[in-house]
Amino acid sequence: MVTPMKDDNYRPGPAAAGFSAASVETPTPTNDRAEAERTGAAPDVKVQPVAAVTPVVQGDSRPESDSVKVRAQDVSVFYGAKQALFDVGIDIPGRSVTAFIGPSGCGKSTFLRCINRMNDTIPIARVQGRIEMDGENVNDRRVDPVVLRARVGMIFQKPNPFPKSIYENVAYGPRIHGLASGKAELDRVVETSLRRAALWDEVKDRLDQPGTSLSGGQQQRLTIARAIAVNPEVILMDEPCSALDPIATAKIEELIDELKAQYCIVIVTHSMAQAARVSQKTAFFHLGRLVEVGATEEIFTNPKDSRTQDYITGRFG
Ligand SMILES: Nc1ncnc2c1ncn2[C@@H]1O[C@H](COP(=O)(O)OP(=O)(O)O)[C@@H](O)[C@H]1O
Ligand SMILES: [Mg+2]
Repeated sequence: MVTPMKDDNYRPGPAAAGFSAASVETPTPTNDRAEAERTGAAPDVKVQPVAAVTPVVQGDSRPESDSVKVRAQDVSVFYGAKQALFDVGIDIPGRSVTAFIGPSGCGKSTFLRCINRMNDTIPIARVQGRIEMDGENVNDRRVDPVVLRARVGMIFQKPNPFPKSIYENVAYGPRIHGLASGKAELDRVVETSLRRAALWDEVKDRLDQPGTSLSGGQQQRLTIARAIAVNPEVILMDEPCSALDPIATAKIEELIDELKAQYCIVIVTHSMAQAARVSQKTAFFHLGRLVEVGATEEIFTNPKDSRTQDYITGRFG
């Protein structure tokens, strides 16, 4: 039994009761495609609706947690001549939370960006290997990255709502992806998304106020609502709680625990305690390599690799 020392309140197992909230980030919309590629929101109506490209699978027809949603094989990433990731292979289950842990600079964000092709937006980045979602190669020429980024939502460390109303922050994606056919339906999508992001009760009487008027934790839940609104299948969270206080963090963790019933969630976290609380599977990265991956409880109580053990016990990182 290894005792992690990096976090004060290490607690393996499912997310604790009394926790709830999250942070999806998307930058300010401009009118260009690059922006849309970053945000997963399409820039104009010429982009094919998500539903037209991919039957948006919902409810019980989504994969069960023991089935593979995302599969990476031999993924290497280079920034110019520098190799940042080496032959990463992992199966990420659906309807489940997978945590990526490891010291800064080990390639966690780089690998996340392979899954929704955000590395395409970094000119010097070059990706090798194969990433599949539901068995489909995400790098296939026929895959539209804008559509892919709606299917694979991303949430970042710093919440960054559009400079628009709370309502418009959530309505923007469904509207440009053609996911709602009229005002009533759009209203419904906005409400449902805000409810799923555990934010509705706090904002339902102020939907016309700016998203930026919310607290940091609420802004993170707003960006999660915005990601949810375009019917994602996978939600990637890159240190979503790093800028939040403990109460807002707890709300995000509770929300993650609820969302996993519907989505494949990947969370990068520097908090060992958070990984232990929210995830079912944990992957430890070190120096660009995926050192060890397994059931979260196994990784934290019985790691097989000495580097994993050293990291979770606070010897480096
Ligand atoms: N846009 C970029 N251009 C050049 N190098 C980068 C870029 N993004 C990340 N890197 C490098 O790739 C390595 C992995 O970085 P990153 O994926 O951000 O690690 P982590 O998220 O684990 O902290 C680091 O050496 C980092 O400096
Ligand atoms: Mg990172």
